[in-house]
Amino acid sequence: MSVQPLRVGVIGAGTVGREVVRAFLERSPRLTPADGRPIVLVGIAEKFTERAIANGIPESLLTDAPAHLIASGDCDVIVETMGGDEPAHTLVAAALAAGIPVVTANKHIVAHYGAGLEALARANNTVFRFEAAVGGGIPLLGPIAQDLAANRITRVRGIVNGTTNYMLTAMAREGRDYAEVLREAQAKGYAEADPTADVEGLDAVNKIVILARLAFGTWIAPEAVSNRPGSTTGAPGQPGITGVTAEDVAAMAAEGRTLRLIATAVLADDGAIEASVVPTAVPANSPFGRCDGVLNRVEVDGLPVGRVAFEGPGAGGAAAAAAVLSDIVSIARGLGSTWGGAPIVDRGAQAVRPVAGECVMAPSGACYPVGD
Ligand code: HSE
Repeated sequence: MSVQPLRVGVIGAGTVGREVVRAFLERSPRLTPADGRPIVLVGIAEKFTERAIANGIPESLLTDAPAHLIASGDCDVIVETMGGDEPAHTLVAAALAAGIPVVTANKHIVAHYGAGLEALARANNTVFRFEAAVGGGIPLLGPIAQDLAANRITRVRGIVNGTTNYMLTAMAREGRDYAEVLREAQAKGYAEADPTADVEGLDAVNKIVILARLAFGTWIAPEAVSNRPGSTTGAPGQPGITGVTAEDVAAMAAEGRTLRLIATAVLADDGAIEASVVPTAVPANSPFGRCDGVLNRVEVDGLPVGRVAFEGPGAGGAAAAAAVLSDIVSIARGLGSTWGGAPIVDRGAQAVRPVAGECVMAPSGACYPVGD
């Protein structure tokens, strides 16, 4: 009996999508699992068709109508690499509602609509995978949800935004100011033309929401996660790394510390969740302090395992595409959603508290939490 191939449709052929397509074109046989269905690319939807063709996307597979590709009946899996809010959210929801498995790299829609999309996937008995949404190419969500499933996870924290880590590393190494390193990050293609979500910590907020779902079994609202450090005036400081000055970085260095944008989620003893994304003063010679440039690092604390750490390439099209492709292979092997067997925990309408802890005053007036 011949095995039916798994027919893949990709919607969005930008930074990540075109790397996914390139993998199909260049090493398709390598993608087929020994214990699963062969995988074939059957269609690519992209609004900017001329640019896509110039980037090597085969014209024969290309359409500018993603909704038609989903509704065509030709795809057994939809890969969403468009990014952003709409139409990505509606298209992913449509695929799941039709019972079509979805793989996405879109941290925004997973963080903001995760509860609804999870419910839709469960109601339609289909698969929703989003490994690429956090940590780029680092296998992270699967290991938390599955390999660490026997543990009680109490804290997950990490450097989950490559752009800001690149900027903070450059500021510390070269004594340069924020505006200058931002321009450089944009020139090198790390920061978006509109870098707001990166530098204000909103991208990292999305990622900690997703990590918290897998670690603690509950969806928290991105809006509830603090992205501002404290300040000497008592008012919250500026969002993300936007208030970090060259003087702050120098003052931290004088104390043997360096600033890293750390996203943290803690399951407190009373069952509440604490979460924040703030520049944090960590020892320069610590694993977080040594995690430089566009690398990501995530630490998971659990019982009985102790601390498990993941580090690697967290940003960029090739890294994210590697995670997308792994998710496709998992579906070809008959595996389920990213949350695996992790149950949903109904914690009611909970308030998310900022993460508690001591902080250190900086010349700008910001009060940065002290990390280890
Ligand atoms: N802008 C993101 C980052 C891309 O810099 O980490 C990867 O999610």
